[in-house]
Amino acid sequence: MAPIDGRVVVITGGSKGIGRAIAFKFAQEGARIVIGHYDPDESAARQTLNGLKDKGVVAEAHKVDVSSYAAVDEWFKGIFERLERVDVLVNNAGITQDTLLMRMDEADWDAVLGVNLKGVFNCTRAVVRSMIKERAGRIVNISSVVGQIGNPGQANYAASKAGVMGFTKTTARELAGRGIAVNGVAPGFVDTEMTARLPEKIKEEFLRQIPMGRMGTPDEVAEVVYWLCSDAASYITGQIIHVNGGIYM
Ligand SMILES: NC(=O)c1ccc[n+]([C@@H]2O[C@H](COP(=O)([O-])OP(=O)(O)OC[C@H]3O[C@@H](n4cnc5c(N)ncnc54)[C@H](O)[C@@H]3O)[C@@H](O)[C@H]2O)c1
Repeated sequence: MAPIDGRVVVITGGSKGIGRAIAFKFAQEGARIVIGHYDPDESAARQTLNGLKDKGVVAEAHKVDVSSYAAVDEWFKGIFERLERVDVLVNNAGITQDTLLMRMDEADWDAVLGVNLKGVFNCTRAVVRSMIKERAGRIVNISSVVGQIGNPGQANYAASKAGVMGFTKTTARELAGRGIAVNGVAPGFVDTEMTARLPEKIKEEFLRQIPMGRMGTPDEVAEVVYWLCSDAASYITGQIIHVNGGIYM
């Protein structure tokens, strides 16, 4: 697999979990890394950034709310000013605000759709002009198995992640002729802070349904994201790759 030396890779939600693993994977292959996050405090982002810099990686971390079109626009303007290019965008930032539909209020809906779906639009919109000019670029959107099969208590999340799949396929069609590949990765049940919050009973229920009988690791998702952006995947666009231990086939 060809290394991606010097390429600029922007990863939203890169302070922890799957995003952090993606940052380390690209860094290991020689990329320059920009991570975004929206944690209340900077500790996870600082830890990730220090980990990258300790390995000699050129890296930046910024707090930016991907659901804000204006904030994202400003963020990318800065990135283009400093680094002049974005070769890879990984739309990974995501949140859950779970509750049954009967109890789901407008704020639960708007918050999750705002980050998980509008955030993907905002960031893609911000990089696409430059990628078109370069006639090159890779975009990977992190969806979820839940966007495919649904999950009680996650109407907002499932809708946002299904939306990401439709957005991925449409942008892939629009941009394929411009040298840009857009793909999605749909993880199943991965061991991060997001899933650590789930009640034990729900976790056991999930595990029972996974043919491989275990959760995935952030690294197992990161490997696929990296592969999709490598030369090995040069003829792949508009695909949703499921990384889920077999829970959905
Ligand atoms: N963990 C899983 O089992 C699982 C399964 C399927 C899909 N996913 C998806 O993978 C992605 C990463 O999930 P994770 O488990 O690593 O989550 P996590 O909670 O560990 O990390 C989420 C990241 O998103 C960032 N973020 C949250 N709100 C943001 C906002 N408004 N603007 C910018 N950044 C924001 C956080 O700062 C953090 O860096 C998400 O899109 C999630 O929906 C996760």
